[in-house]
Amino acid sequence: MSGRGFFITLEGGEGTGKSTQIKLLADSLLRNNREVVITREPGGTPEAESIRNLLVHRDGGRWTPVAETLLFFAARQMHIENLIKPSLTQGKIVISDRFTDSTRAYQSYGHGLEPDLIESLVQLSIGGFEPDLTFILDLDVSLGLARAGQRLSQSETGEDRFEQMDQAFHERLRQGFLDIARRYPDRCVVMDANRTIEAVAADISRIAQERIAHV
Ligand code: TMP
Repeated sequence: MSGRGFFITLEGGEGTGKSTQIKLLADSLLRNNREVVITREPGGTPEAESIRNLLVHRDGGRWTPVAETLLFFAARQMHIENLIKPSLTQGKIVISDRFTDSTRAYQSYGHGLEPDLIESLVQLSIGGFEPDLTFILDLDVSLGLARAGQRLSQSETGEDRFEQMDQAFHERLRQGFLDIARRYPDRCVVMDANRTIEAVAADISRIAQERIAHV
């Protein structure tokens, strides 16, 4: 398929069910004969995956908040240029597990970095590139952390640096994501993630198909 692609991101705190919902959304788009690329941040290309190891691995280094943010944008710039834009040019639908809203939520609301610094980096490093549609999965923090805690794979891979933050940090994240949704109402849709997987998936699929149809 050629023509204009469509870029969708899923955002939210730990344990909100993003990866499950991404698979279900991709399935529903494939059933409608769309070509779909599933990717994630930080990561998505070999270089960006190398940066991911520095950022999310518990042995990846002790970065200052500014250096950490620069690394997220370095990975993002490579991801956009080498995977996201080429796929969109080919008319594909790209679904990313996290994108710039995670930097806004984690680095600014979570770690206290100046919001203006992040917005300057959005302009400087990625030319203001934003998704066409963002789903923010919203869930009570205790429920999310309990769900995330059950995922054994993360402790095995050592990718638990961010999960180890305290409850107050995760509360700030949740409020941050809700603030971001208010700031970008045309792009962001908040989903109540405290429902069955099927109910959330049905809403996400319906809204995505409607938006894609209107491109
Ligand atoms: P996850 O993909 O398992 O959610 O792990 C990625 C971690 O990186 C997650 O805890 C959120 C964090 N993160 C940021 O702090 N800033 C960012 O810009 C992105 C993309 C992720």
